[in-house]
This record gives sequence, structure tokens and C-alpha cells, in this order.
Amino acid sequence: MTLPDGLPAEIDLTRPSAARVYDYFLGGAHNFEIDRHLAEQIASMTPNLADTMRAGRAFLRRAVRMLGQEGIDQFLDIGSGIPTVGNVHEVAQAINPTARIGYVDIDPVAVAHSRSILAGNEYAGVIHADLREPDRILAEAQQLGLIDLGRPVAILLAGVVHFIPDADRPAEILATLRAATVPGSYLVISHSTYEDQPPEMLDAQRLSARTSTEITLRSRAEVTGFFGDFTIVDPGVVHMSLWRPDAPSDVDDHPERLGAFGGVGRHDRSVG
Ligand SMILES: C[S@@+](CC[C@H](N)C(=O)[O-])C[C@H]1O[C@@H](n2cnc3c(N)ncnc32)[C@H](O)[C@@H]1O
Repeated sequence: MTLPDGLPAEIDLTRPSAARVYDYFLGGAHNFEIDRHLAEQIASMTPNLADTMRAGRAFLRRAVRMLGQEGIDQFLDIGSGIPTVGNVHEVAQAINPTARIGYVDIDPVAVAHSRSILAGNEYAGVIHADLREPDRILAEAQQLGLIDLGRPVAILLAGVVHFIPDADRPAEILATLRAATVPGSYLVISHSTYEDQPPEMLDAQRLSARTSTEITLRSRAEVTGFFGDFTIVDPGVVHMSLWRPDAPSDVDDHPERLGAFGGVGRHDRSVG
């Protein structure tokens, strides 16, 4: 198969990619027929999914804005996806133009597009890596000068931990990331759930097995556990649109339909 110009040769165009399916849902242009086909199939089973994805981006933007206002000036965004409007670096650098952002993704298309969008931005960079290698990510982000772990940092895990099955020990990955931070640091997580969900959600989850990354839905208690000893800030681990909405009208009568929790935790003391 011929690859479109500028895309890395290792891209597998015979299987849909989670990053490109996600890009399609967000109205982006970085996806192929095979991704659109799966996206339409998933959308027909779970009509709320596009809303969930948009709500996920909105949650991330609100969290980054809050952290920027708290003085956080370095962000490690793991599972950053294909950049669309309102990226983490745009939100963070609108508050502090010298805020540093390290984007990390496993998907070569997401990495290639991130690199081209960030060309010329001396305070942001991209790492092609797997969340399952947290030590490598932390080391590389420091080597590239993207983050300094001697100072408070925000680690963003938006819509990505559900791609780590229990067999790959997500709790240990999270513990490694938390342990690398100094007090004053933050952790942002959004994560799909089966709690309060209709059966179609589980069918869609099964469809996700056809992408290179299958989803593991988890309970609120499990998502809360990923924050470890960090202090979870108000309003807690909640359905994403309920996390500090910009306006009451941004929350509809059924926030649980989004099928994903969001939360922010702060490192208040040395934790392991
Ligand atoms: C649903 S998108 C979320 C994008 C962005 N964080 C957001 O909230 O808008 C999930 C991203 O995680 C990436 N991803 C999945 N598994 C990963 C892994 N093990 N390590 C790093 N990135 C991963 C996918 O390639 C995809 O770009």
C-alpha cells in the first residue's frame, strides 16, 4: 500500500488505529478509510461516543488551564494523540508562553503529525514511546529538556490508561510515574468506565479489539486507585463534564452517558 506523503513507513494501514479513529471522531483530517469504517461502526452502536471524545478534550483543556493558573509550567502528555484544535501546548502556552510540553504517543501517525505541528515551537517536543515503559519516557523527556523532574510537573494521561490491560500492570506504571515527581506536581487522568453504562458500551469495547489497542473499562474505584497517595482535588473523580465545567449549561441531564471519569490529583508529600 502506498503511504501518503510525509508519513512514516512503519504505519500499518491494514488495521484501524485508535489515534486515527479518535481523530476522525474529533473532525480531524488525519485518518484513513479503514479508520473511518470502524469509527462509523462504533458510532452506530454508541451514539454518545463522539460526545465522549469531545468531552474528553474539553476536560483536558479545563484541567491544563487550571494547572497553568496554579503555576505549573511543564506538562508530560502521554497518549497525546493526533493534535487537533485546543492542544495542550496551546492552552498551557496561552497562560505561560514558556511552558514546556512533552507529547508522547505510541502511534507513529500521531507522532508524525505532532512533530510537524510543533516545528518551530522551542518549548514543546514529541517522543514516540509506549506508556508501558514509564522509565524510558521519563528519561527521554528529561534528556530532551522537555521536563525537569526536580520541579513540579503535570503528567497527563487523558484517555490512555484504558488501553493498558490489567495484565500489563497499569497500577505499577502509575506508581512509577507518581514516584518520579516532586511535591507540587499533578496527575490528570480520564478513563472509560462500565459504571452506569448501557450494554452497547460493552459491545463497542469488544469492537475496539480490532484496533491495535483494545480498551479495558474500569470502575470509579479503580480509576481513583491510579492516583495512589496523591490528593484528589475537587470535585473528585467524576463523569468528565462534571469536572469544573465552565458553565452549568455545559452539563446535560445525563453526564454518565459520556462513559468516562476524569480527575486531577496533587502530590502533597513524598509518595511511593
Ligand atoms: C483516545 S486518544 C486520547 C488523546 C488525547 N490524550 C486526548 O485526550 O484528547 C488515546 C491516545 O493514546 C495512544 N495510546 C494508546 N496506547 C498507548 C500506549 N500504550 N502508550 C502511549 N500511547 C498510547 C493512542 O495512540 C491515542 O493517540
